[in-house]
Amino acid sequence: MTQPVLSVRDIVAGYGEMTILNGTTFDVMPGTITTVIGPNGAGKSTVFKTIFGMLKARTGSIHFKGTDITNAPPRKLLALGLCYVPQGRNIFPELNVLSNLELGGIAASADVNIPQRIEAVLERFPVLRRKGQQQAGTLSGGEQKLLEIARSLLLDPQLMLIDEPSIGLSPMMVQEVFSIIKELRAKGVSVLMIEQNARSALEISDDGLVLELGRTRMQDRAQTLLNDPRVGQLFLGGVIEEKSA
Ligand SMILES: Nc1ncnc2c1ncn2[C@@H]1O[C@H](COP(=O)(O)OP(=O)(O)OP(=O)(O)O)[C@@H](O)[C@H]1O
Ligand SMILES: [Mg+2]
Repeated sequence: MTQPVLSVRDIVAGYGEMTILNGTTFDVMPGTITTVIGPNGAGKSTVFKTIFGMLKARTGSIHFKGTDITNAPPRKLLALGLCYVPQGRNIFPELNVLSNLELGGIAASADVNIPQRIEAVLERFPVLRRKGQQQAGTLSGGEQKLLEIARSLLLDPQLMLIDEPSIGLSPMMVQEVFSIIKELRAKGVSVLMIEQNARSALEISDDGLVLELGRTRMQDRAQTLLNDPRVGQLFLGGVIEEKSA
């Protein structure tokens, strides 16, 4: 049987006295796109911070490619092939696009040919080559997201955690970002993403999970979630197609 690339078991975590994750459990299978949906404040971003070692798991375990990575530091996770693109803007706005990419290379191990990797991502993202000398803070929101994704790809990840990639982007940019995510899957990279844009995200996903109050309420094939009336009502705009009598 295929082993999950990521396995999250009974995670309890929070901030100070506050508990946000109350036994979060789910798997990500290799070479798939898995989307996390759930209401604001459900703890979606908190799950990613905990996986990426930025927030301590009080109990529970996280395994990546069979290795126990519970509470491992980000640096070690990057080296293992796990990357994280957080919610919001995460570039150095004053630096130009190329410098932002070069800084991403700092996290790579010593034997990696960074200039070669940068050339490869510039090949894939021509807009970043064209705007290489431009201050990154002056890029459009979508271009900045592409820059963040490109910067992660320098590390040749096997699993990418992407928190709300489409938020604030134009519909065309959303399509661009989603097609890059599909391309990653085609190359064997697994993607775990959080999306408010639940329908579009589930449509390109293999699996999905619904997180509520820090617990996994549902985990299933994305198509099954798309067809589930409960999910439809809560997260897909409330329009459930009536079955004709
Ligand atoms: N650094 C922090 N310190 C204290 N509380 C926090 C912190 N970060 C998040 N929280 C709280 O934890 C809860 C879950 O937040 P989280 O960001 O994980 O939610 P989310 O599901 O990602 O929501 P959204 O859809 O709005 O991004 C919220 O109640 C939030 O206020
Ligand atoms: Mg969030």
